[in-house]
Amino acid sequence: MSAASADTGENTLEKFIIKGGRKLHGEVEISGAKNAVVAIIPAVILSDEPCVLENVPNISDVSISLRILYEMGASVIFLDKHTVRIDATGITDPIVPYEMAKHMRASYYFLGTLLGKFGRARVSMPGGCDLGDRPIDQHLKAFAALGATCTIDRGMVDIQSEGLYGTQIYFDMVTVGATINAMLAAVKATGMTVIENAAKEPHIVDLANFLNSMGADIMGAGTDVIKIKGVKRLKGAAYAVIPDQIEAGTFMVAAAATQGNVLIKNVIPKHLESITAKLAKIGVNVEEFDESIRISVDGPLVKASVKTMPHPGFPTDMQPQISTLLCLAEGTSIVTDGIFDNRFRYVNELRRMGADISVDGKVAVIEGVGQLMGAPVTAPDLRAGAALVIAGLAAKGVTEIEDIYHIERGYENFEEKLRGIGADIIKKTVPGAAARKAVV
Ligand code: EPU
Repeated sequence: MSAASADTGENTLEKFIIKGGRKLHGEVEISGAKNAVVAIIPAVILSDEPCVLENVPNISDVSISLRILYEMGASVIFLDKHTVRIDATGITDPIVPYEMAKHMRASYYFLGTLLGKFGRARVSMPGGCDLGDRPIDQHLKAFAALGATCTIDRGMVDIQSEGLYGTQIYFDMVTVGATINAMLAAVKATGMTVIENAAKEPHIVDLANFLNSMGADIMGAGTDVIKIKGVKRLKGAAYAVIPDQIEAGTFMVAAAATQGNVLIKNVIPKHLESITAKLAKIGVNVEEFDESIRISVDGPLVKASVKTMPHPGFPTDMQPQISTLLCLAEGTSIVTDGIFDNRFRYVNELRRMGADISVDGKVAVIEGVGQLMGAPVTAPDLRAGAALVIAGLAAKGVTEIEDIYHIERGYENFEEKLRGIGADIIKKTVPGAAARKAVV
């Protein structure tokens, strides 16, 4: 038996050191999607048989999710680097304590899956978070609609039920997390559940496909009405996770920011449409193939307006990266991101690199500066960290990025993949540094 170790970066400080100014060129392969796999791994608990997951990215959020399953009594065996066999039938106690859940925001998916399997769950309340206030009221509303009683007791969300019954759930806002949790809880409920105003992200569809491959009866995932006919039993399945839309988008922007020419492989171009359209508007050449996308630049980059929206709109998870690109474009760009309160925290770091950005609430005004300058900066969260890497790749001189454990939550071998397409980036480990906490 082996389980991934949950390296949360708490005991060492690692930084990226980037010598900027190299045009990225060549080919890069995209890994499995973080936001799909962090839902699919807990979903295995619902199965009465072992499951095999393929295209599992080697990122710390996966290590943490697998560690939680393992600590709860599941068997977790890697068949190869990206394929893991999970037998969760050994889990008998539906409890995820704080120590296990604290490192990962997505640990709240254990609420839905444990409730769906055992009719009750006790999971640590997701902790403080670096994107601002992230309530879970819609998750709890869905569980209550299905017939559960939810209380919060000393930091633990405690959910009890005498049985779950199909119902209608209308979300007050489009929420990825609550849509997923409602699906996980409803899949074995008695009768039909209808989720309205559901999120439509590719990872919602991926989770539905995985659950259906185990014998669930879910229709409409990818639209705003999802219908779930409860089934009594779920069997084992072998399932390959979709490619990561945001990792692909990040490499697309990195190629553009360095005036490079990169073929990005193992992608689903349909999932990238909003990013592709915006890059084209900025003056980037985007060529789509069946499972790859080529990015190149042969003219000036120009300003654009970007407003983040739930899928199929422009993703909030690409906002820091595209904003960084717009720093290098001619003219004044306006970027609006109201999905979370606090997604512009990287702006101060970019200013240290010479960016001209002002932020008023949900709106950033970016004056193109043409060239950024290398500087020491700190990654405030996952996507902001990726954006700072892009800034460093495009900048003149050396950029050192601290707190890269944020980045490693969601990007597999980021620096190796970047080196493979010509970047001058190394990871340096500083031993014995102060502990820091990662929660997203
Ligand atoms: N919201 C509520 N109440 C709820 C749930 C959500 O008010 O009960 C609000 C949130 O505060 C936010 C909005 O609804 O203003 C949308 O939140 P959502 O639930 O969609 O976000 P999430 O499930 O917490 C996931 C991704 C995020 C991504 C968002 C939006 C995972 C594990 N996380 O978060 O990914 O930004 O959807 O697409 O899937 C990332 O990968 O960097 C990341 C942060």
